[in-house]
Amino acid sequence: MKNVVTDLASQGGPPAFTEKLHVGRPNIGDREQLMARISDMLDRRWLSNNGPYVQEFEQKLADYLGVKHCIAMCNATIALEIVARAAGVTGEVIVPSFTFVATAHALQWQEITPIFADIDPNTHNLDPEQIEKFITPRTTAIIGVHVWGTPCVPDVLEQIAAKHNLKLMFDAAHAFGCSHNGQMLGGFGDAEVFSFHATKFMNSFEGGAVTTNDDALAARIRYMKNFGFAGYDQVDYVGTNGKMTEVAAAMGLTSLESLDHFIATNFENYKAYQAGLADIPGISMFSYDENEKRNYQYIVVEVDEAQAGISRNRLVELLHAENILARRYFYPGVHRMEPYASLFPHAGMLLPNTQKLSEQTMILPTGTAVNPTDIAQVCQVIRFIAANAAALSAA
Ligand SMILES: Cc1ncc(COP(=O)(O)O)c(C=O)c1O
Repeated sequence: MKNVVTDLASQGGPPAFTEKLHVGRPNIGDREQLMARISDMLDRRWLSNNGPYVQEFEQKLADYLGVKHCIAMCNATIALEIVARAAGVTGEVIVPSFTFVATAHALQWQEITPIFADIDPNTHNLDPEQIEKFITPRTTAIIGVHVWGTPCVPDVLEQIAAKHNLKLMFDAAHAFGCSHNGQMLGGFGDAEVFSFHATKFMNSFEGGAVTTNDDALAARIRYMKNFGFAGYDQVDYVGTNGKMTEVAAAMGLTSLESLDHFIATNFENYKAYQAGLADIPGISMFSYDENEKRNYQYIVVEVDEAQAGISRNRLVELLHAENILARRYFYPGVHRMEPYASLFPHAGMLLPNTQKLSEQTMILPTGTAVNPTDIAQVCQVIRFIAANAAALSAA
């Protein structure tokens, strides 16, 4: 029979949080600055269509990332779709399955087939050695994902792409503010795509941006995100509507001004979690390369059931009962979601590391909405569960 105890206090454990502690609560910059910007925007009556805030945001992002072109978009999913089309991608594209489903959907949406390659269990990113096994005559591109903001070995992928004459794009949705060998992510491959969704550490409510050093590609992307318009009455490409609004850019600019504060807070939280979760058998935290720039937005914990005596799923269930809304990531893995599960029913056999990590990994709350006292309590709860795993684990 299943042991269904979820109330830790009744077992002599720490008290539950009285309010829910969420993963991905938005960081909010200077409210007055945001309101002033919105007020100016309303006075100008320029709410969309490449307004002054969007132009300023694009310029500031390009400067910060050290990249030639930055094109702001309504979100990263549409940005990925547009980049793939603008780069002439067709047929098959190699992607990880250990990612948010949008990476694959952006391709499948336009009938380009995502081919899932396995990841390196240490970096959680595409394993370069796996990529070449999946290249066929139909392959036209690779999309690497910088999972948790850890670079998806861009220099190695650039070599593979060049060798096989493939396009190379990066889903950098997690990776704003991160570097590789001292160079900011944003300028690698043919193009990179950032997300400024509310849950990202730097947000524009919803939003995204494409960065590239390729002039011709940048021009095509600009047209395509604006219905293909190349002049007032001239349409040269099939296009869509990927434009960022002025209010989103106002939020993006305001977030950008608080970037250092957001990163410092995330780093402090990361260190508090590292200290609080140290030496719990079977519970390990993903660590970041502190010699490079990182945004520390994801507190990633792996649960090894054999050692911890409790499964990741049961741990998440117990944490939820304590109002700690930890999330399973990336669960169940894109290859086990539709339509991919039906298209590739045996994909899992080729993705052992992806399957394992998607069963073991969870993320914990961080960001400016969480403070070190909260974190100490979250860690205390996890420690208590681990110490009482035999009694608390579902039999
Ligand atoms: C890895 C990854 N790719 C793509 C996306 C899609 O971004 P957006 O919500 O801006 O469309 C997200 C996040 O939401 C993501 O985490």
